Amino acid sequence: MNLNPSTNAMHPIFVNLANNNGLYNYTPNTTAGIAPLGPYNCSQCHNPHGDSGYGRLLRGRYETMAYVTYSPNPDSYQACWSCHSTASIINDTTYFSRHNSHIITHQAPCIACHYSPHGVPSTELVRFNPSFVTASLIANSGPTFVDGGNHTGSCTLSCHGADHNNVNY
Ligand code: HEC
Ligand code: HEC
Ligand code: HEC
Repeated sequence: MNLNPSTNAMHPIFVNLANNNGLYNYTPNTTAGIAPLGPYNCSQCHNPHGDSGYGRLLRGRYETMAYVTYSPNPDSYQACWSCHSTASIINDTTYFSRHNSHIITHQAPCIACHYSPHGVPSTELVRFNPSFVTASLIANSGPTFVDGGNHTGSCTLSCHGADHNNVNY
């Protein structure tokens, strides 16, 4: 699950991390329409008795292909919308102002940048999907995300044929 002791960003899932006890006692710090307070059980997102064809025992659809033509009905990322607001993400009113262009125009799934929804070692739940986000050819390094603080960041990578050499947001 990638919930390793160096986890810095995670969903407030009820687990005991060896070196990070209590990490899930978070202060909600996202602008994306958060609903219930954590900690969550696995069953908030998974149905242990079986899913309705979504795979991974998920309660909602969650597309993870390299290219996804966004569809609102049934929503390609329904698994996220029980807590986050579709509108805030698709209309770019969250801290990341480039969700729309990536998700709609460039057909990138959430999992391109939020690889492992459970928890990741870097901040902001950002981790690039190693199966289709690769090193920047121009910079000859990456893929890397550098958190610049105060909800800014920069990306060095290559994805969907686009090369980013320290592209900031
Ligand atoms: C191109 C990369 C990329 C893709 C694709 C992407 N995100 Fe993000 N997202 C980011 C980055 C970077 C941030 C962190 C912004 C910051 O510095 O606070 C973020 C932040 C967020 C936040 C927190 C926003 C806030 O204001 O607190 C949520 C929730 C989120 N993303 C959900 C999603 C969902 C759901 C999807 C798919 C429908 C998605 N993201 C697709 C890059 C991406
Ligand atoms: C916030 C929602 C959420 C919560 C809570 C959650 N998961 Fe998940 N989980 C997901 C999503 C989304 C995926 C699909 C990601 C993917 O395909 O890589 C997933 C995938 C998985 C997978 C499949 C991984 C793979 O490589 O195919 C397992 C196993 C799993 N989760 C176990 C758990 C367990 C155990 C818990 C509780 C300790 C938990 N999850 C809590 C959202 C969640
Ligand atoms: C059960 C409710 C729930 C679901 C479902 C859910 N989230 Fe979240 N999400 C949260 C909460 C609560 C936070 C705030 C965590 C914090 O502030 O530490 C959060 C935070 C985030 C962040 C920002 C993390 C950070 O450190 O800034 C991202 C990115 C994100 N979620 C992506 C997703 C994606 C992608 C999905 C769909 C697979 C999803 N979420 C599904 C409740 C949920």
